[in-house]
Amino acid sequence: MRVHVADHPLIAHKLTYLRDKRTDTPTFRRLADELVTLLAYEATREVRVTPFDIETPVGPTTGIHLATPKPLVVPILRAGLGMLDGMMRMLPTAEVGFLGMVRNEETLEAHTYTNRLPDDLSNRQCYVLDPMLATGGTLAAAVHFLAERGAHDITAITLLSAPEGIERLERELAEVAAPVTLVTGAIDERLNEHGYIVPGLGDAGDRLYG
Ligand code: PRP
Repeated sequence: MRVHVADHPLIAHKLTYLRDKRTDTPTFRRLADELVTLLAYEATREVRVTPFDIETPVGPTTGIHLATPKPLVVPILRAGLGMLDGMMRMLPTAEVGFLGMVRNEETLEAHTYTNRLPDDLSNRQCYVLDPMLATGGTLAAAVHFLAERGAHDITAITLLSAPEGIERLERELAEVAAPVTLVTGAIDERLNEHGYIVPGLGDAGDRLYG
């Protein structure tokens, strides 16, 4: 798995306010939205494109548009929904599939409660959206889910990640055939005994949706 930490001052600045417990829900939503557009810029560096010819007012040239099949954007419900609009602003012709997953707060194991995804993802580039990579159980299960359907390559975009979660992904995704990339805004210190990222930002789902 490739790991890319987007350590840009604009990202660090927005993350500062996202982390601050005084930040209210409307501001939190706006910051998450803005952050994902910045992270998408890094995450889509290898999005597949095809050339096509256009005419400028001065003369002909060749541009690019997204290749077919279009990329699939997969927000993980519920908190990943807070990243969807920002991602779609950057990739407006992408398709969207949904994965509903929740972590059992006692065992910290991820459980998939719904999905609305194409059965066949062969040759598809997939972008998975989830603000938090904590123990890594949720993202590991999501990547397996997509890889089993034949995804061509999978990029996970998180706002924050814990080192423990990254290690788990490295371990559990070693056998996955599709190349996997993680693009994250920051790698924090550690997880606490409740499986929360430290210093983190608390519960992203609650802060986005109450
Ligand atoms: C949170 C978060 C991730 C997951 C991360 O979701 O949004 O999906 O936990 O934890 P993990 O890396 O330890 O698996 P949560 O289960 O709280 O659901 P929600 O998005 O519906 O609030």
